[in-house]
Amino acid sequence: MLLLYMPPMAKIFNRQMVLVLAVILILISQSEQKESSKTRTLLRIRLQLSYPDILSSWNSSIDFCNTEPTSQVTLVCYQERITQLHIIGSKGTPLLPRNFSMDSFVKALVKLPDLKVVTLVSLGLWGPLPGKLSRLVSLEILNMSSNSLYGTIPRELSSVTGLQTLILDDNMFSGPLPEWLGSFPILTVLNLRKNLFNGTLTESFNRLENLRVLALSHNHFYGEVPDLSSLTNLQELDIEDNAFGPRFPRLGNKLVRLVLGKNRFRSGIPSELSSFYQLEWLDLSFNRFVGPFPPSLLSLPSITYLNIADNKLSGMLFENTSCNAELGFADLSSNLLSGHLPSCLSNSKNHVSLYAQNCLATGNENQHPPSFCHNEALAVGILPHKKKSETSKVALAMAITGGIIGGIVVIGLVFMLLRRSNSDKMIKKPTTRLIAEKASTVYSSKLHTDARYMLQTMNTGALGLPAYRTFSLEELEDATNNFDTTAFMGEGSQGQMYRGRLKDGTFVAIRCLKMKKNHSTQSLMHHVELISKLRYRHLVSALGHCFECYLDDSSVSRIFLIFEYVPNGTLRSWITGGHDKHSLTWAQRISAAIGIAKGIQFLHTGIVPGVYSNHLKITDILMDRNLVAKISSYNLPLLAETEDKVDRGTSAPPKDPSTSTRVRYDDESDVYDFGVILLEMILGRPSKSRKQLQILRKQLEAIIATDDVTRRLVADPAVRTSFSDQSLKTMMEICVRCLVKNPAERPSVDDVLWNLQFAAQVQDAWKVDSESSEGSPGSPFEPPHLRVAFR
Ligand SMILES: *[C@@H]1O[C@H](CO)[C@@H](O)[C@H](O)[C@H]1NC(C)=O
Ligand SMILES: *[C@@H]1O[C@H](CO)[C@@H](O)[C@H](O)[C@H]1NC(C)=O
Ligand SMILES: *[C@@H]1O[C@H](CO)[C@@H](O)[C@H](O)[C@H]1NC(C)=O
Ligand SMILES: *[C@@H]1O[C@H](CO)[C@@H](O)[C@H](O)[C@H]1NC(C)=O
Ligand SMILES: *[C@@H]1O[C@H](CO)[C@@H](O)[C@H](O)[C@H]1NC(C)=O
Repeated sequence: MLLLYMPPMAKIFNRQMVLVLAVILILISQSEQKESSKTRTLLRIRLQLSYPDILSSWNSSIDFCNTEPTSQVTLVCYQERITQLHIIGSKGTPLLPRNFSMDSFVKALVKLPDLKVVTLVSLGLWGPLPGKLSRLVSLEILNMSSNSLYGTIPRELSSVTGLQTLILDDNMFSGPLPEWLGSFPILTVLNLRKNLFNGTLTESFNRLENLRVLALSHNHFYGEVPDLSSLTNLQELDIEDNAFGPRFPRLGNKLVRLVLGKNRFRSGIPSELSSFYQLEWLDLSFNRFVGPFPPSLLSLPSITYLNIADNKLSGMLFENTSCNAELGFADLSSNLLSGHLPSCLSNSKNHVSLYAQNCLATGNENQHPPSFCHNEALAVGILPHKKKSETSKVALAMAITGGIIGGIVVIGLVFMLLRRSNSDKMIKKPTTRLIAEKASTVYSSKLHTDARYMLQTMNTGALGLPAYRTFSLEELEDATNNFDTTAFMGEGSQGQMYRGRLKDGTFVAIRCLKMKKNHSTQSLMHHVELISKLRYRHLVSALGHCFECYLDDSSVSRIFLIFEYVPNGTLRSWITGGHDKHSLTWAQRISAAIGIAKGIQFLHTGIVPGVYSNHLKITDILMDRNLVAKISSYNLPLLAETEDKVDRGTSAPPKDPSTSTRVRYDDESDVYDFGVILLEMILGRPSKSRKQLQILRKQLEAIIATDDVTRRLVADPAVRTSFSDQSLKTMMEICVRCLVKNPAERPSVDDVLWNLQFAAQVQDAWKVDSESSEGSPGSPFEPPHLRVAFR
């Protein structure tokens, strides 16, 4: 019986098995197909590139998403899909053979549709750039420099709306720049150096309001530079070696690097340039700028490189003219300057200063007699101005830009003819400091591109910080005099701190973390990625990192994190009169509190995953030169790695409710710490213990309910006369709520921030009110219609 029944059952069972197996097989073969299509595409790319040596390790059996990145080839995957492809050939790679087709190459490339970052540099690519490239709809960064691409930038690219960085340096593109370039909403970097572009720049450029870098040097552009003053994020403008002119371009004053050399500018230097407080690099050389040279350019607060060589700038210099201490290169040669060489230029050991071919009284032969400069200046229509009032300079600059041009056309023509024939052999190219980044390990190039990518991915706004980057160990050793004891600042739970000074003169704080476990640089990448995002006005921001590796297995032995150096003491020193009686006013205390709260808000929500439980202390709040409060010593994601703890930085914010409560309380623990800081700011003295803290909290809570006189009496005597009662009351209320024992009852950071901003507005209105009416400060105050600006 049993035997009779078995066969059908086995059959049914078998059928099910077969079905399941078939499904499994189909699934496997599908994923394999997907897998192999990626492999096929990459192998096709290798074929199209004529099997370059750098791709010799690519074959059909390697797992592309898990290959070690090298300085030449890097693939980055996200969930097995390729998001970044970097292939960098060596300089001077010959053109690919005749049967190469850019069209087929791009056809293969777009089969990797998830690409966000593409670097194809020095590969001998040639031909027009196919519009098909726009099928890479996620493309954010494209760097195809040092190839032989020609034609125009294809219009189809305008549909790639996420494009942030377009780098086509050193190719043979030609013709005018297309008008539609101005309609890329988030373009931040446009580099088209060393091509054959011509024509004029249209006004459409001034719509690129996210643009940070515009580099068009070594092309054949001509005509006026359009008004770029609306590009408030622009930090670098490099238009060297074109035929732009004659007027000085209108620019926003956030520029860090301005290169107008080798063009046809014929105007005066506008006086606004003296207000470019972030300007580090100014090159006006080999033009025909006329009129007075503003000596204030030598003392711009950030200037390190100034080149005005070969112009017709006139005016007197004095021995006592001052220079910025960081000015490392100044070339004033071949102008019409007279007077004496400023002593800050002549006494320079570490600086280069060039000033030949002027009329300076230096006592050596390569200067002209004063009459020469006088006559030449006359010839271009400008007399050196003796009375140097600010207004006359402005008027003069305006007169120059407007009127003089007509009078100098003839001389201009002669000059231009001369210049043309000379222009090639004339100038030594300044090395670009911004981009010079030395690297210590093979990974660094990937780190570098990643860092660059991450930096560009987020909107840093105008922080005035240099780009996040990789540092080399040598650079850090130089900066700290080999980690000398004089550079040592202290040691805490977050490693040793050193103060360093980089080559460009900026001070940095360097945190050194020893690794307890073996980690490859790659496994630390996600931390570095997070750290590179820790850049915010109210944080002591990260500037870069450096890995030190063991030689034997190249695992990481130490990590150096480089932060901005904040020079002005801790918040506590500004409360308890550590700064000889210069304690903060009430309004300054409110704004410091707002700064800290914003910093906490950024740590929690400005980056993913957020950084919680920062154990903030008033001594970890640093003040910068403008008394902006900045949080240092926040809970660095890397610390878990160095402390053998579970890795907490990588996990995504937890979904399950029990852990999410933990995260909320983490959030509230920062709020509690904030309350402690606030208490000290209100009372003007620290609390000695947690117990005393709770007593003070209770007292404060009771006092809030009393009258304004009592409230006034508990506040820090240093500010007792400078606050409005309502703002004091609001601050006390926030403080009390932050210090509640039960974390769940504490306010959120957003709530805290809203209330602080309310307190600030009330205080503001009170100040205006009490100043205008001279009324009694304690008078009951009905806030006017309040508009709280809240980000
Ligand atoms: C070009 O021709 C060479 C030899 O004729 C061949 O090996 C190569 O695969 C061809 N390249 C392409 C991209 O077709
Ligand atoms: C593919 O390359 C890897 C390493 O580059 C090598 O170990 C492997 O043998 C190669 N496989 C084939 C099929 O060539
Ligand atoms: C483009 O890529 C090359 C190779 O990585 C790099 O040297 C260059 O700096 C990149 N260009 C820019 C502007 O980042
Ligand atoms: C720009 O260059 C192209 C050749 O590359 C030339 O045909 C054209 O006339 C030039 N246009 C202008 C406006 O100079
Ligand atoms: C610099 O020197 C000039 C003349 O030598 C003098 O007129 C001027 O007042 C001095 N300026 C300063 C700031 O000392």
